Amino acid sequence: MRLSAELQDAIQRETDKVDHRKLAQATAQITEHYKAADFSTPAVASEAHRAAYLAVRLPATYAAIQRVFAEIKLRAPREEIVSLLDLGAGPGTVLLAAAEQFPQLQQATLIESDAGWIAVGKRLAEQSGSTIVQQAQWLKQDLRSGLTCEKHDLVVISYTLGELPQAAAEAVLNKAWKCAAKFLVVIEPGTRRGFAAINAARSALLANAAMILAPCPHHFTCPMDAVGDWCHFSQRVERTSQHRQLKGGALGYEDEKFSYLVAAKSAAPSKGARIVRHPGKHSGHVKLALCTAKGQIENRTITRSSKEAYKRTRKAGWGDLWIE
Ligand SMILES: C[S@@+](CC[C@H](N)C(=O)[O-])C[C@H]1O[C@@H](n2cnc3c(N)ncnc32)[C@H](O)[C@@H]1O
Repeated sequence: MRLSAELQDAIQRETDKVDHRKLAQATAQITEHYKAADFSTPAVASEAHRAAYLAVRLPATYAAIQRVFAEIKLRAPREEIVSLLDLGAGPGTVLLAAAEQFPQLQQATLIESDAGWIAVGKRLAEQSGSTIVQQAQWLKQDLRSGLTCEKHDLVVISYTLGELPQAAAEAVLNKAWKCAAKFLVVIEPGTRRGFAAINAARSALLANAAMILAPCPHHFTCPMDAVGDWCHFSQRVERTSQHRQLKGGALGYEDEKFSYLVAAKSAAPSKGARIVRHPGKHSGHVKLALCTAKGQIENRTITRSSKEAYKRTRKAGWGDLWIE
């Protein structure tokens, strides 16, 4: 996955406003902050931090969001997403991804507590060719101070829930679910900590009669803890030359690890099992780690002798649904 040339240019214009040495310093600071995952102080607290986020984090969060939206389209192809509510919008990453994935989108509301982010988001929006992006409504509001909202088809909390204290996260999640007419999406970093936030959200939503559209093909207790693992996926994203300069390393891409949940107000039961690790593709056989409809982690080996299944499995990737 790569960012559009339009978005890359808009980001470049923002990062050009910050002296290169300051940008490199800010990149190191936010990277350290996210690694430490201590959100008692905000990770992004200055213009230089915001520019660094655009250069080195937005491409990855954007790619993860795109992947999750593609999953909604795959699992619920007939559902139209006409309205969007984004909680903890930052530079409007969710809006930019939604405008590409959901062409029927007519109305978008973005809630963000940081005035600096709202200003950046509006500048990025001005440079977008999309009317829905240009016309989105930005609200400066602290999610912890009680959220009022109208129903929106799709509500998204992307890389934000885990930054809130636990009690606030629970309250925001409950409110977000009430604001959702069709789907609520929660995305977090694909770390044990990020997964713990997703798993807690999953339990709370199931207790509120939610259907889990993805990634889980079941509504049982998540089996990952029991096998000492955590549910996460990986999205490859092309790195720009600026990204390589700021973060070092020679690779032309990075793999963003993320955990996510799509809760639906109504959904047909999932068919198949979710592939929860990179498939091991060997000569004549493929090894799969699956989360099954029974709510269990199972390892399977598909050999060349199962012709049709083998052919399909060779094309399957981590995060795909796999149908027996
Ligand atoms: C890591 S950024 C994620 C931005 C964007 N959603 C994305 O996926 O790229 C987290 C965002 O949540 C916002 N945020 C954190 N706590 C908040 C709160 N209590 N109320 C509103 N926004 C908040 C931050 O200001 C920041 O913009």
